[in-house]
Amino acid sequence: MDMKILVVGGGGREHAIAQALCHSDGVKLFSVMAKKNPGIFNLASKTFIQKETNVPQIVEFAKEVGVEYAFIGPEAPLESGIVDNLENEGVACVGPTRAAARLETDKGFCREMMERHHIAGCPHYRICHNIGEAITFIKEYTGDLAIKPIGLTGGKGVRIMGEQIDRDGALTYIKQLRGKVVLEERLIGEEFTLQAFVDGTHLVPMPLVQDHKRAYEGDIGPNTGGMGSYSMPDHMLPFVTKSDYDKALAIMHSVVKVMGKIGNPFKGILYGQFMNSAHGPKVIEFNARFGDPEAMNVLSLLKSNLTDIVVGITDGLLSSSQVKFDNMATVCKYIVPEGYPDTPNVGDVLTIGKTDGALLYYANVEEKGGKLYTQTSRTLAFVGIGPNLQEAERRAEKAASSVKGRVRHRRDIGTAELLTKRCNHMKELR
Ligand code: AMP
Ligand code: GLY
Repeated sequence: MDMKILVVGGGGREHAIAQALCHSDGVKLFSVMAKKNPGIFNLASKTFIQKETNVPQIVEFAKEVGVEYAFIGPEAPLESGIVDNLENEGVACVGPTRAAARLETDKGFCREMMERHHIAGCPHYRICHNIGEAITFIKEYTGDLAIKPIGLTGGKGVRIMGEQIDRDGALTYIKQLRGKVVLEERLIGEEFTLQAFVDGTHLVPMPLVQDHKRAYEGDIGPNTGGMGSYSMPDHMLPFVTKSDYDKALAIMHSVVKVMGKIGNPFKGILYGQFMNSAHGPKVIEFNARFGDPEAMNVLSLLKSNLTDIVVGITDGLLSSSQVKFDNMATVCKYIVPEGYPDTPNVGDVLTIGKTDGALLYYANVEEKGGKLYTQTSRTLAFVGIGPNLQEAERRAEKAASSVKGRVRHRRDIGTAELLTKRCNHMKELR
């Protein structure tokens, strides 16, 4: 099938999207990204280096090169209304309108929608409209709390009072934040990600993935965009029962139904982040796009043509028969600059050694004169694929540890030890 498609975004996730699209014959890929990602650049017929939220310029580029489709990677352009504007020009988009993206861009909207429409899995929450209200609430509250700025924070805005910070720390944090915040009960359990292709009405789920948000091994240190992730050959996770999975999927279906009912049909990738608690899955948040790194796990396994899925999503005729994944395990490990996320070393040269069949996805990395240099964010990722988790981990780890430079990665992601810890934690809770 001939298809001219624009991929917006320049991270590891977008490299995986671009790569998956290019598996189909007849694809002509175009790219818009704020900084040149060498992986995407090499796949694209033409690249436009531009801020991903500069919607008018991106629409001009889309018209100039004549794309029929666009795939929006990150959340910021969704919030800037990129889909509304591209669709006005006849470009069919994988990604929700600005109004439907509020599921991610406005945490207050998300919680109120869940409560109003009796969607299961909503934690107890309170929306505070100003700092004074939040301070009073925190001073009087006796339990642990998740403190969440209402808008986008690149996955780094949440603080847990009772774990990462104490009450004084919470009050200091609240004073730094301006505007509305959501305060919600601290959920205890194991996190998992369920992503789905959605065409406004139909939803087709992808394999479950577990991400690792914390910077250091053993899940300590500050939250990051995600240090790596894994998935299992049966597309489930050992600490998620069939009943947990069914509940999580039913929640995702309810959200799609409600978004349609309230006049903001959701089209694109729906990302559900769940906490599997003693009482089943609770919603940590929804995202209106693929996860990064989770996109790299699932897209590396996709057997079907992503281009067919793009057509299904944008035509509103998506069906599960169009979506098949290999029954293999995946482990994704991000290489990040030393000091990431708080004080990353920028401009350090890195070299990649023997990658032994692991897939390589570029992220925030500069290529200059045939050499690679770190930037402020996650540098590049390796995905190991194997018949079991052990083999997938071995491949990802071998590739990741071949990288030389002032960079690091989490060696524990995808290991049997960490998986056992997760399963034991779940057993203790139930
Ligand atoms: P988010 O920015 O919503 O993805 O949250 C970042 C991280 O904060 C999540 O991956 C969780 O680890 C944690 N988190 C968010 N909300 C809660 C909550 N209600 N209870 C416990 N942890 C949470
Ligand atoms: N991996 C978490 C996210 O993409 O938001």
